[in-house]
Amino acid sequence: MSEYVTVGKVGEIPENTGKTVEVDGRLVAVFYADNQYHAIDDLCPHAGASLGAGYVEDCVVLCPLHAWRFDIRDGTWCDNRRLKVDAFDVRIQDDDIQVSITPKVVEEDE
Ligand code: FES
Repeated sequence: MSEYVTVGKVGEIPENTGKTVEVDGRLVAVFYADNQYHAIDDLCPHAGASLGAGYVEDCVVLCPLHAWRFDIRDGTWCDNRRLKVDAFDVRIQDDDIQVSITPKVVEEDE
């Protein structure tokens, strides 16, 4: 059973931007893009930059430090889709944006 944590209010994250929040001691990047909220691990696996501060286009976030690109819908690294950062389920309850602290299970394309 997933546990959801409130991380903000609907409307406070502008389209195609993100924000970094702490969920149960873990930094999570929450984005609003394509009329939906998305959440992935905030820590870029290359050198630890905050993905929540990255530029977003077409549901892809560009790491602000060295421009690695990650799909904000499932955390996959766009240059090698076998690698990914964790992605998390997001839901809206009333006006609250809530993130599940359990990593999302993403099906592999094979
Ligand atoms: S720290 Fe993200 S690409 Fe280098």
